[in-house]
Amino acid sequence: MEQTTVSDIVAKDFRAAAIFDKHLIDFCCHGKVSLEEACKKSGVTVDKIQSELALISAADKNTNESYDTWELDRLSEYILQTHHRYIKEAVPVITAHCEKVVFKHGARHPEVIQVKELFQELSEDLTRHMTKEETVLFPYIKVLAQSHREGKPVPIPPFGTIQNPIRMMESEHENAGNSLQAMRLVSGNFMLPPDACATFGVTYQELQRFESDLHKHIHLENNILFPKAIELERKLL
Ligand SMILES: [Fe+2]
Ligand SMILES: [Fe+2]
Repeated sequence: MEQTTVSDIVAKDFRAAAIFDKHLIDFCCHGKVSLEEACKKSGVTVDKIQSELALISAADKNTNESYDTWELDRLSEYILQTHHRYIKEAVPVITAHCEKVVFKHGARHPEVIQVKELFQELSEDLTRHMTKEETVLFPYIKVLAQSHREGKPVPIPPFGTIQNPIRMMESEHENAGNSLQAMRLVSGNFMLPPDACATFGVTYQELQRFESDLHKHIHLENNILFPKAIELERKLL
């Protein structure tokens, strides 16, 4: 791997781009150098980069869990640690790449300006949305799960019933889904123009990964966590 070029590593797995960005390794305009050489230039060890790259492939192996058998506090914690964390890490990386693409290609390909604006709006909405889940809804779901396990009574929540915040979260999920669709529409399904640079390609791949992560995230909430939490609250109140 030391002799593989950094641009080839990104071509094989675009998620490497975020790791290279973090260590100031240029995979785009100066990407035709070996990993060893690029690391030397950026003052980072090849081992460090390799262990970070290994983490992204390890993450792929955890995809077939039977989430619907999990306790609800475990599932909500998993959503926080996996999907909320991913969004928080990915937003600044993708935002920076979108800005670079707009700067370099915005004049010839104005659709990237719309993609950037849609992503910005989506990420701001998601940040507010996740704060509500993290501070109001998920803590209450954890109380429900623990009370159920320990046979304790559940305090009446300030929002009346869990159905109220859930209704709001579901409508926000719908808005997020619409933003993702709009992004696909304006970019022609993330179609790259022939003069696209490596950052352009990486940005569209990152946006598609963001989309599939968000689809899974919303699926876990809408189809498993929320209906089960409504059912559990009904049982306990
Ligand atoms: Fe969420
Ligand atoms: Fe959500």
